Amino acid sequence: MLLSFSETFGMKNNSFKFQLAKVENLEWLSTLNSHTLKKHTGKEYIQFIYIDPPFNTLREQKKVQDNSWDSKVQNLEYYDSYGEGLSGYIEFMKMRLEHMYRLLDPKKGFLCVHLDYNSVHYIKKTLDYIFGGGNLDRGRKHLVNEIIVSRTRGKNSGGAKQLNIEFDTLLLYKKSRDMKLNKIYCEKKQKAQWRTDCERDHKRPSMEYTLLGVKPKNRWQWSEETALQYVNNYELFKKSEYSDIEKYWIKVKNKDRSFRFIRKNEKTGNLEWWKPPSDKTQVKHNVWFDIKAYDSSIPYPTAKHTDLLDRLIEMCSKEGDLVADFFCGCGVTMKSSIMKNRSFIGCDGQSKAIEQVKDGISKIKKDVNLEEIEVFKSPELDKITDNHKFARECVLMSEGVPSYRDSGDMSVDGIRCSS
Ligand SMILES: C[S@@+](CC[C@H](N)C(=O)[O-])C[C@H]1O[C@@H](n2cnc3c(N)ncnc32)[C@H](O)[C@@H]1O
Repeated sequence: MLLSFSETFGMKNNSFKFQLAKVENLEWLSTLNSHTLKKHTGKEYIQFIYIDPPFNTLREQKKVQDNSWDSKVQNLEYYDSYGEGLSGYIEFMKMRLEHMYRLLDPKKGFLCVHLDYNSVHYIKKTLDYIFGGGNLDRGRKHLVNEIIVSRTRGKNSGGAKQLNIEFDTLLLYKKSRDMKLNKIYCEKKQKAQWRTDCERDHKRPSMEYTLLGVKPKNRWQWSEETALQYVNNYELFKKSEYSDIEKYWIKVKNKDRSFRFIRKNEKTGNLEWWKPPSDKTQVKHNVWFDIKAYDSSIPYPTAKHTDLLDRLIEMCSKEGDLVADFFCGCGVTMKSSIMKNRSFIGCDGQSKAIEQVKDGISKIKKDVNLEEIEVFKSPELDKITDNHKFARECVLMSEGVPSYRDSGDMSVDGIRCSS
């Protein structure tokens, strides 16, 4: 089926491209492929997908006029419950996640799904299944991490039915098992320190030299030449007018973090190296309570915080990559992508969400302007009622040679003529 989107926006900012659509996501996902992605975003695959789907909280839905998607979505503040219960929800997610998996970059694609206790265990199994090609054990090897982020839902006093819910879970998967995460940092200040971890475990004969009269148990972490340079740095500091090594480092080396010092601690007889102070520390674990996950200042229910999306985007993609969010809500993923110089593709089914995205984009510092774009509209095709004829016309319009056998799978079959 070809879609006519009610609203689709595009934006070009130097080499970065953006596409945002008001559309039911499954309908859209099923039309995306490397050709359509390339056309609208310049990339054949998506490097990082973040989604924050409904959590299946079983919250009461507001009254809907009829059973159609559009009516449901337009009438609901927030669509988060499924007629067919849990199995309906899992099926809803599976169909969408399979498409996302298909669109992920085979070499460097990450997928992050934001959930809570209502559904995380079921969706983890679904993701294991998809990433393992039907084999759960194989799929588990593609799970990078469960990441815990903070939330506060309800404050109970004694005698409550349930303890307070203080976290959500993010499931992070990678398409290729060889992929590594980019280093990420948090703004935790670290004081300068003299450290004693001068050695490394594994043997390397060229690094087993004696330094300041000390022989390593295994081997030093630096080459002999580098270590002697650091020893000399410390000697120069001692001869200088400074008594505070940090002030000396700032004055002489202008906070160059590669400039190090090595000394021998005369009391212990051990070697020590000086680690400069730092404004940020590398994030090394999966409990992210140091940043906010939700932003209550945005007038959109369940809006996520840019700190969370900034961190995920930095960890899972590089400048120029393509980021996507197919449950984009008020567009925090899009805002972070713009700020971090990534291209973006995303959608939401609600007009209210798309309005919020446009509003949010207009407020960020970068000079961006979302313009309505034509995706594909064909009045001729709309008139065709026979499905086989429709499929053949689609192939012809794409300058292909259609198959004239009426196969029953409703797929568009044909041969590509142009390269
Ligand atoms: C939890 S909210 C996302 C919030 C978003 N991360 C943010 O920061 O604003 C889920 C969103 O998914 C949208 N949604 C739910 N089902 C959808 C579907 N099938 N197609 C498109 N959008 C859908 C809802 O309209 C809602 O905006």
